[in-house]
Amino acid sequence: MASGGRVPELGVLVCLGALLAGWVAAGLEAVVIGEVRENVTLHCGNILGPRGLVTWYRNTSGPVFLLSSNSSLPPASPRFSLVNSSSLHIEALSLQDEGNYTCQEILNVTRWFQVWLKVASGPYQIEVNISATGELPNGTLYVAKGSQVDFSCSSSSWPLPMVEWWFQPPNSTGEPFGNNLTLSSFTLLLMSPNLQGNYTCLAMNMLSGRQRKVTTELLVYFPPPSAPKCWAEVSSGSSTLQLICRWDGGYPDAEFLWTEEPGGVIMGKSKLGVEVLNQSQLSDGKKFKCVGSHIVGPESGASCMVQIGSPSLLSEPIKTCFVGGNVTLTCQVSGAYPLARILWLRNFTRPEVVIKPSSHYLITQDGQSSTLTICNCSQGLDEGYYVCRAENPVGVREVDIWLSVKEPLNIGGIVGTIVSLLLLGLAIISGLLLYYSPMFCWRGKKIRGQDMGDVMVLVDSEEEEEEEEEENAVEEEEEGNWRELPKQRAKHDHIHRVTALVNGNIEQMGNGFQDLQDDSSEQQSDNIQEEDRPV
Ligand SMILES: *[C@@H]1O[C@H](CO)[C@@H](O)[C@H](O)[C@H]1NC(C)=O
Ligand SMILES: *[C@@H]1O[C@H](CO)[C@@H](O)[C@H](O)[C@H]1NC(C)=O
Ligand SMILES: *[C@@H]1O[C@H](CO)[C@@H](O)[C@H](O)[C@H]1NC(C)=O
Ligand SMILES: *[C@@H]1O[C@H](CO)[C@@H](O)[C@H](O)[C@H]1NC(C)=O
Ligand SMILES: *[C@@H]1O[C@H](CO)[C@@H](O)[C@H](O)[C@H]1NC(C)=O
Ligand SMILES: *[C@@H]1O[C@H](CO)[C@@H](O)[C@H](O)[C@H]1NC(C)=O
Ligand SMILES: *[C@@H]1O[C@H](CO)[C@@H](O)[C@H](O)[C@H]1NC(C)=O
Ligand SMILES: *[C@@H]1O[C@H](CO)[C@@H](O)[C@H](O)[C@H]1NC(C)=O
Ligand SMILES: *[C@@H]1O[C@H](CO)[C@@H](O)[C@H](O)[C@H]1NC(C)=O
Ligand SMILES: *[C@@H]1O[C@H](CO)[C@@H](O)[C@H](O)[C@H]1NC(C)=O
Ligand SMILES: *[C@@H]1O[C@H](CO)[C@@H](O)[C@H](O)[C@H]1NC(C)=O
Ligand SMILES: *[C@@H]1O[C@H](CO)[C@@H](O)[C@H](O)[C@H]1NC(C)=O
Repeated sequence: MASGGRVPELGVLVCLGALLAGWVAAGLEAVVIGEVRENVTLHCGNILGPRGLVTWYRNTSGPVFLLSSNSSLPPASPRFSLVNSSSLHIEALSLQDEGNYTCQEILNVTRWFQVWLKVASGPYQIEVNISATGELPNGTLYVAKGSQVDFSCSSSSWPLPMVEWWFQPPNSTGEPFGNNLTLSSFTLLLMSPNLQGNYTCLAMNMLSGRQRKVTTELLVYFPPPSAPKCWAEVSSGSSTLQLICRWDGGYPDAEFLWTEEPGGVIMGKSKLGVEVLNQSQLSDGKKFKCVGSHIVGPESGASCMVQIGSPSLLSEPIKTCFVGGNVTLTCQVSGAYPLARILWLRNFTRPEVVIKPSSHYLITQDGQSSTLTICNCSQGLDEGYYVCRAENPVGVREVDIWLSVKEPLNIGGIVGTIVSLLLLGLAIISGLLLYYSPMFCWRGKKIRGQDMGDVMVLVDSEEEEEEEEEENAVEEEEEGNWRELPKQRAKHDHIHRVTALVNGNIEQMGNGFQDLQDDSSEQQSDNIQEEDRPV
């Protein structure tokens, strides 16, 4: 029954093919877009009011009956139904439903309407692939500065989607700045910090307008440009020693690991890089290593080392000052890390008293060298022991300096000088005699060697004495000698040794010049009283 009723109608349809084409040309054709799995309703013309007998056909290779408003004709598929007695409702669309549909309405006249159904699919999901260096726990990707990064975006959709990449750097409000790449993949060759931001891949089905996008945050990391720096410093407020490690200039900030060396005992790991040392760790010469690690830095990290040390002291053990004159005591600190605090003390009493700068005491410090100048020396007040103390959290050292205050040069000294000048003249003459006498040639050589040494030294020594008398500033001369000592010794080794001898003679003569400059001063400074006690 059903198929019999359809046949004449098919014939009519074929006959009216030309008529259909005419309607299409007249713009009566409608296009309806549906999506896979969705429902769609195709209207039979844009007509309001009562409708005639409506029959729907599918125009593939030939017209295929779908549905009729004559209820005695069943629909070709349960997915088809008639709404509002003329429109074709199709459920659960599939891509195969795409095509041209025709409806025939028989009223006074028979009219034909065509609807072009287009079926779109997706995109339902997109897959973004960024060849990043790594992924952070929160899902953010990071790449190392300068690296090459490939971006790709894929999605399945019918028809093929339009794919677009958007780049949004931080703080650019909403408006897509930069690249609108209508590409599914691209490569950035040299990542730089200004390429950090949110990368969005947008895939859009141009038929249905359905779009999906995936935003990926990409951070551009770089390690600090230079090596880490570390040092020890006394924390303000308390007297504890803290180790500080810095490795700046990278992004994000580096992390630090402090270890005790050797052994590598871990002291702590932090973003701050600061470790406070406890008392038991404060031993002279102890080393600490800081390893800075950065997420895109070298795998083994970058390190620096700190070695703490207690101060060592070098000073003259004995100084002399003339009554009314000035004297400068010098104290040289070495090996102290962190730098030592240098104090001058007077050990009249126990505990010793710290000397404060005044018109009588001038204290100057240049680096780790401190000088104490005592002005206008007086015998009762200034003679005695002075203490130079150097302290840092690692240790404390003290050295005693004995200051003797003497009356200024007396007549005896001058007489002694004249006598020695005379002796010198005699020595020169006898020396010359011995030298030029062929009879005493062999002996003369031997004697000459000794005498010449003494002669040269005596002249040298006398000159010093004279200068001192003129300037009345023995202490400055002494200090000069002391400082220049190594140079002098290197050039005139034998001369210097004899100088000590001659100076010793002069001292015995009572001119008040006390020798401090020979090798013994160094030995004494090695033997200085040393305390090694933590603060
Ligand atoms: C409906 O279809 C039946 C069977 O093909 C037919 O007999 C009947 O005349 C049709 N009715 C109309 C109004 O076309
Ligand atoms: C399609 O229509 C059927 C019946 O009219 C309905 O049950 C179903 O929910 C509809 N599906 C969608 C996706 O609208
Ligand atoms: C419908 O199908 C027929 C037969 O294949 C064809 O001649 C005709 O042009 C088609 N009509 C439309 C509108 O596609
Ligand atoms: C059916 O007709 C009514 C009123 O004319 C309209 O509101 C409704 O949307 C129509 N239904 C469909 C599926 O076109
Ligand atoms: C539907 O008909 C139009 C002409 O009206 C034609 O261009 C189009 O290709 C047809 N669609 C299909 C799927 O055959
Ligand atoms: C049939 O057509 C005539 C004129 O074209 C019109 O006046 C009349 O109302 C129509 N009848 C129906 C039932 O539509
Ligand atoms: C993920 O973590 C990184 C580093 O902690 C941070 O910079 C970024 O803003 C985070 N991203 C999100 C989306 O939370
Ligand atoms: C990326 O977008 C998220 C959410 O809008 C935002 O919190 C984040 O700061 C952005 N990241 C960058 C690097 O712009
Ligand atoms: C982004 O905005 C935040 C807060 O508004 C601001 O602190 C930051 O400096 C801005 N960054 C840039 C690169 O402008
Ligand atoms: C990027 O593409 C979107 C969508 O096509 C468009 O609205 C926007 O104006 C484009 N932006 C630029 C900078 O081309
Ligand atoms: C001693 O020092 C004081 C002030 O420091 C200075 O005025 C004085 O001239 C000095 N005396 C000698 C002899 O150098
Ligand atoms: C001062 O130091 C010297 C040398 O160490 C010591 O012999 C003397 O007892 C000390 N004087 C006082 C009062 O402590």
